[in-house]
Amino acid sequence: VTTTGIEWNVHANSAIPTRRLPLRVALLGFGTVGQAVARILVERGDLAGRLELTQVFNRNVGRKRAAWTPDSVGWTDSFEEVLAAAPDVVVEAVGGIDPAHEWVTRALSSGASVVTANKLLMAAHAPELIALAARHAAHIRFEAAVAGGVPIIDAIRSGLAGDDFTRVVGILNGTCNFILSRMTDGETMAAALEQAQRRGYAEADPSSDVDGHDARAKLVLLAGVAFRRHVRTADVPAGSIRPIDAIDFRYARRLGGTIRQISMVELAREGELQAFVGPALVAEASNFARNAGAQNLVMVTGRYGGATTFSGEGAGGHPTAVAIVSDLLALARQDRRVDSLDAPWLPGTIVAPPARPYYLRFVVRDRPGILASITASLAQHDINVDAVLQEPGFPKDHLPFVVTVEACEHTALNAALDEIDAENFHAEPPLVMPVLPGEDHVAPMH
Ligand code: HSE
Repeated sequence: VTTTGIEWNVHANSAIPTRRLPLRVALLGFGTVGQAVARILVERGDLAGRLELTQVFNRNVGRKRAAWTPDSVGWTDSFEEVLAAAPDVVVEAVGGIDPAHEWVTRALSSGASVVTANKLLMAAHAPELIALAARHAAHIRFEAAVAGGVPIIDAIRSGLAGDDFTRVVGILNGTCNFILSRMTDGETMAAALEQAQRRGYAEADPSSDVDGHDARAKLVLLAGVAFRRHVRTADVPAGSIRPIDAIDFRYARRLGGTIRQISMVELAREGELQAFVGPALVAEASNFARNAGAQNLVMVTGRYGGATTFSGEGAGGHPTAVAIVSDLLALARQDRRVDSLDAPWLPGTIVAPPARPYYLRFVVRDRPGILASITASLAQHDINVDAVLQEPGFPKDHLPFVVTVEACEHTALNAALDEIDAENFHAEPPLVMPVLPGEDHVAPMH
């Protein structure tokens, strides 16, 4: 024990060199998130004994240097210089897969631990990076990559670790939730997206928000943490919120619900997961419907403990930085034993979803027999109609109406929709959304 710090919990027989506190932290990327991380490290004097910001890496770093950081911080635009300084932890707040993948790989190989906010990198490479960290007695933590400041990864691997998980369902993209909440109040999608961009929620390319790719990467990480299975991101079906129209909120309300972008993964059998990302009809009385603005919400269900729900800020520099600094503090507390997060993720397979009820919205050029033709195709595939809704007053050449169907297999629905799609009455492609069950009360075991 020295004045600069307490030794990490040392195992007497370990050959691994002892790290001392404060952990020396190198920050890669000084954008919104990186700056917010630095702010917390600099402003919170109580962290000084545990974490010390020693280096900041950014392209054209001269432009970025911030007067409020201590003089002891080294500024560089050379990753080699970062590695040469042998930091204890590298925080990766650069984003994107390349060159982040190479940098994280080299940091872990050098024995540094890594804290990353990078969902795309982790969704693509988590098993390999977790194994690499374990080989070098290092850790890789990524709380910030999922649901911003909501500590859902820590909850799954620690607070709820006693349960046997069966499902994780959530609202994982703040931009989509913001847009859909605003549309409930009558705003257009374009205006709501512009607001989300202005407030800094949206990704640089907002199509990754609205088309579900951002949420899908986060879902892959939650599946990995909850089920220790890694599925290919591209295998998770992702639906866009783009086709959602004001009329869908009117019909949803008549059905006692509203629309949210939902991400859901369930364990079907060992190694086989059912997953879904996209707009869904949720009950108006559910936590999902009440989740407003850019907030994220995650509900984790286990065989023993039932459903536990977490919510909070899912986007933005400061909430994301809180998750990063919390990961850094966890590393400062952690001994070098490989913990459960570092247990390998085995390959997992995405299988067909369970039977569910669906909301089908058609926009047609009106003529007699359309409803008859749609219901005939549904009947042909043994799909039972639950409700038919048609509001008056729409133009004949652009007539929207909704058919809801009782729980059915996805394959049967797709076969019926293939037939329906082939008809010539469509003014727009049909919109298909699953209907989530009322409040998701899965009773704990007694
Ligand atoms: N663009 C993301 C969102 C935030 O809207 O939730 C970062 O993951």
